[in-house]
Amino acid sequence: MTLEPPVEAPLDRPDWSGVRRGPLQPGEWVRLTDAKGRRHHVCLEPGRRFFSNRGHLEHDLLIGREEGFTATSSLGGEYLVLRPLLHEFAVSMPRGAAVVYPKDAAQIVTMADVFPGAHVVEAGVGSGALTCFLLRAVGPTGRVSSYERRKEFAEVARRNVTQFFGGEHPAWRLTVGDLAGELPATPADARVDRAVLDMLAPWECIDAVAAALAPGGTVCAYVATTTQLSRVVETVRSHGGFTEPQAWESLVREWHVEGLAVRPGHRMSGHTGFLVTARRMAPGERPPVKRRRPAPGAYGIDYAGPRPADLPAQLELESYDE
Ligand SMILES: C[S@@+](CC[C@H](N)C(=O)[O-])C[C@H]1O[C@@H](n2cnc3c(N)ncnc32)[C@H](O)[C@@H]1O
Repeated sequence: MTLEPPVEAPLDRPDWSGVRRGPLQPGEWVRLTDAKGRRHHVCLEPGRRFFSNRGHLEHDLLIGREEGFTATSSLGGEYLVLRPLLHEFAVSMPRGAAVVYPKDAAQIVTMADVFPGAHVVEAGVGSGALTCFLLRAVGPTGRVSSYERRKEFAEVARRNVTQFFGGEHPAWRLTVGDLAGELPATPADARVDRAVLDMLAPWECIDAVAAALAPGGTVCAYVATTTQLSRVVETVRSHGGFTEPQAWESLVREWHVEGLAVRPGHRMSGHTGFLVTARRMAPGERPPVKRRRPAPGAYGIDYAGPRPADLPAQLELESYDE
């Protein structure tokens, strides 16, 4: 069986993947990794030098070569030269606010079911790391409408996203403002397929997201603490127009694999945040009433958060300790 070679986008018509091919060009970013695994990101400029404790490296010796080679500095230091992948760019790019970590971005894209051509609403934008993953997932035929209430963060994000994609991504619209205030102003025909909330108080945006999401659409919230997790889940649940929210976290552990020494690495990406997803019901529809009784005391006298609408009154008198 013969496999046809993949069709590559012509250089004058970018495919908006953020991936560049061919020889390294002036103005491109490369990642230099030394023998100890230390990484440096360098923007290639003719006539410039990269300096380290192992001397210097002429940019001109890198420009024009195919990535994936080892360059030697003036004092004999060896550097692996590659263009950064998206997940490498996301954790090394300039930051305004904390970024979504790649393990969580991967979960968000998969579990919120972000697809090519989708219209995704995102807030806040922070440094734009998640925006890059979302834009890559929706592609140039989709749309990412991003909202960030701090202008200075929006500017950092615009620089990062534009740098990664090599220009203004045609699918991206960035609004400076509060999501709950701005989203209702979105034109009624702008059907929203997916909404992703990475902010301190996502529960404040659930009503606005519910009004904008198409039936079957997904809301996904990313929060750092258990108190935020509880509040956003209970707010989605008590709204009544979403399916039962699902909450989880992911832990990623690297492995050391060398001859007979095959064991878990010493460090792991442990806690970064919790994820919550739920799907929008059609207008006026509610999810089936839960047959399972809540855990004893879950919504008892000590609980002060939002309550599900169909809660039997006697449960509100229980104590968690009983
Ligand atoms: C943790 S950062 C987001 C990081 C971003 N997802 C990334 O990967 O780079 C949270 C951001 O949400 C913004 N924010 C908080 N509440 C908001 C709201 N209601 N509307 C718009 N932006 C909001 C904050 O200003 C902050 O920049």
